[in-house]
Amino acid sequence: MTFPKNFLWGGATAANQIEGAYDVDGKGLSVTDILTAGSLDSPRLLTYKLNGKFQTTPSAPGQGLPEGAEGVIDPNSYYPNHVAIDFYHHYKEDIKLFAEMGFKIFRLSIAWTRIFPRGDEEKPNQAGLDFYRRVFEECKKYDIEPLVTISHYEDPLYLSEKYHDWGDRKMIDMYVKYAKTLFEEYKGLVKYWLTFNEINTSLLWLNGFGNNVDADKPYQHAYQKLHYQFVASARAVKLAHQIDPNYVVGNMICGVVDYPLTPDPADILATRYHMEQDIFYCGDAQCKGKYPTFAKRLWKEHNVHLDITEQDKKDMLEGTVDMYTFSYYMSNVVTTHKIENKVGGNFSAGARNPYLKYSQWGWATDPDGLQYYLGIMYDRYELPIMVVENGLGAVDKISDDGKIHDDYRIDYLRMHVEAINHAIEDGVDVRAYTTWGCIDEVSAGTGQMSKRYGFIYVDRDDGGNGSLKRMPKDSFYWYKRVITSNGEDLE
Ligand code: BG6
Repeated sequence: MTFPKNFLWGGATAANQIEGAYDVDGKGLSVTDILTAGSLDSPRLLTYKLNGKFQTTPSAPGQGLPEGAEGVIDPNSYYPNHVAIDFYHHYKEDIKLFAEMGFKIFRLSIAWTRIFPRGDEEKPNQAGLDFYRRVFEECKKYDIEPLVTISHYEDPLYLSEKYHDWGDRKMIDMYVKYAKTLFEEYKGLVKYWLTFNEINTSLLWLNGFGNNVDADKPYQHAYQKLHYQFVASARAVKLAHQIDPNYVVGNMICGVVDYPLTPDPADILATRYHMEQDIFYCGDAQCKGKYPTFAKRLWKEHNVHLDITEQDKKDMLEGTVDMYTFSYYMSNVVTTHKIENKVGGNFSAGARNPYLKYSQWGWATDPDGLQYYLGIMYDRYELPIMVVENGLGAVDKISDDGKIHDDYRIDYLRMHVEAINHAIEDGVDVRAYTTWGCIDEVSAGTGQMSKRYGFIYVDRDDGGNGSLKRMPKDSFYWYKRVITSNGEDLE
């Protein structure tokens, strides 16, 4: 295995899934703060008041509140993100462990509500700015480059209520003000930024999981929300470059590969349509700065009428991203035929692929899909690429010797590192690999702690019990060897 000399090995997290301290030092409530814990069989619930009545709706990170709803914390419900793994108070210890593994890069996100508690304030919250400064300085101490997601599934609750989950273009200004504050504040400390985590999930949710926020007009809402986010992202990219020409800003796509179930041409076409809607629509808007030809077909098909101005189009064209980044966990099978054997994972709602193994949560392990995806995206956009999420969510058990022997995770990661290497050999310019949940964190999809991804175990369970003590797993030492050998030693 040969990886480029400066290849950035590391790990990835999100503020709401690790920080905890949800109401500390002036932080406001995010939408994720009113999201209960779920499980494999029961969805997470948003808790809110609508027309004076307490209600709940199945939801997932990235979806906002129903129109007119007011988020509330229900004293009888459990909200796993409120404490999470308390990175807020453990960040020094955690970054030290990342450094011990040899991390070159650490992906984390900023909680918008630590900086602007409601989202519409004139001035940022100093305590929030100071917290991330301390975190970035800690990273610098170990020569770890922070990779910062500006918005990772946690809009301020106040804005989501007022503007109905990006249902109003005023959200663009709120986001741009927030991004500008970060670019000015952390100049010299941060180089790599991502504008929105998995921006395409609002479209992915439409394929079988519904959109509970706007059940009556889900497509109109999803596409309009995305348009405002594209403009917000583009304006942020432009600003970033003005504030510091060294800033490198990426998009971030939930990268699910679609395969046809059969050679029936109808399946081939359906697969293409899936990839267009799910993956290329957002990629094209952010990397090419304009909507693809097929966008018109999608809007027509779903009776979508967008509020787009000439200035929006100009902004999108002038604010294209510098790199393409994506998460990759699984592939998905598309068919127009009736299927008996269905899968039920978050983003793999299609037919079961008989050639692949599935995790306990229904996610297909498919390293070849990663190589395939990398090749397609590099051909299409010709931009440097970072794989900013990848990993296996699994239940870990402490063995009699007091250790966690997570060879299943090592196997999963090894195969994906090999796939990235094959793509690099094919000529794809991959710059970084940040595995998801380098330290155990709250699952975004289910709110469970037991769906673990980390190299570092955190003693906390699905009910919020545990000492929060950190402990390296076998994969910790494996990844350390991978990094030290720059990907040559995968055993
Ligand atoms: C991605 C998200 O979809 O997948 C993360 O960006 C998330 O926030 C990760 O945690 C894994 O998903 P889950 O549902 O297993 O936590």
